Amino acid sequence: MALINVHDKSFDIYLSEEKIQRRIKEIANDINKDYKGKRPLFIAILNGAFMFASDLFKSLDIEAELCFIKLASYKGMKSTGNVITSIGLEVDLYDKEVIIVEDIVDTGKTLHNFLPKLIHQQPKSLKIATLLYKSDAIAFPLHLDYVGFDIPDKFVVGYGLDYDGLGRNLKEIYQVV
Ligand code: IMP
Repeated sequence: MALINVHDKSFDIYLSEEKIQRRIKEIANDINKDYKGKRPLFIAILNGAFMFASDLFKSLDIEAELCFIKLASYKGMKSTGNVITSIGLEVDLYDKEVIIVEDIVDTGKTLHNFLPKLIHQQPKSLKIATLLYKSDAIAFPLHLDYVGFDIPDKFVVGYGLDYDGLGRNLKEIYQVV
């Protein structure tokens, strides 16, 4: 047991730094193979994906571009569902090989609502890389191309992920007790 406290909750270690780093290298190797001779554009989603994007990017040996965006959701005036808009996406995606970089896919709602905006720009290809995936929580269909770890439907913090603003700086990933 290696318990830590973040705000009012206790968390126990779930994925060590070594385990996370080893898995990221494996994903980077897969991407190096899949995109050999291509020049993908990585779109990392802030805030949570900053650490994963950084470590993944360092392990690539292909030519690649990286940009960071923030997603904001608002209720459409007439529509019932949330509309997702992005801040900071200045690159034209037309004909680009795009890879979305996420920290965690939980219900899948965020990406499910956001992907049509990207597809609208007609990228040559569009793939998703997520470090964590709560497969039991998925409620919106999504095809995930690169998954670090399939984890139980329990709240986690660390390695970029926060609990109410705190915990992002932890090198490991912790699960709520
Ligand atoms: P989704 O739209 O339900 O897939 O939610 C994705 C977003 O919810 C992630 O980008 C995180 O910001 C947040 N999230 C979901 N589960 C967790 C968790 O266990 N810890 C921290 N943030 C989470």
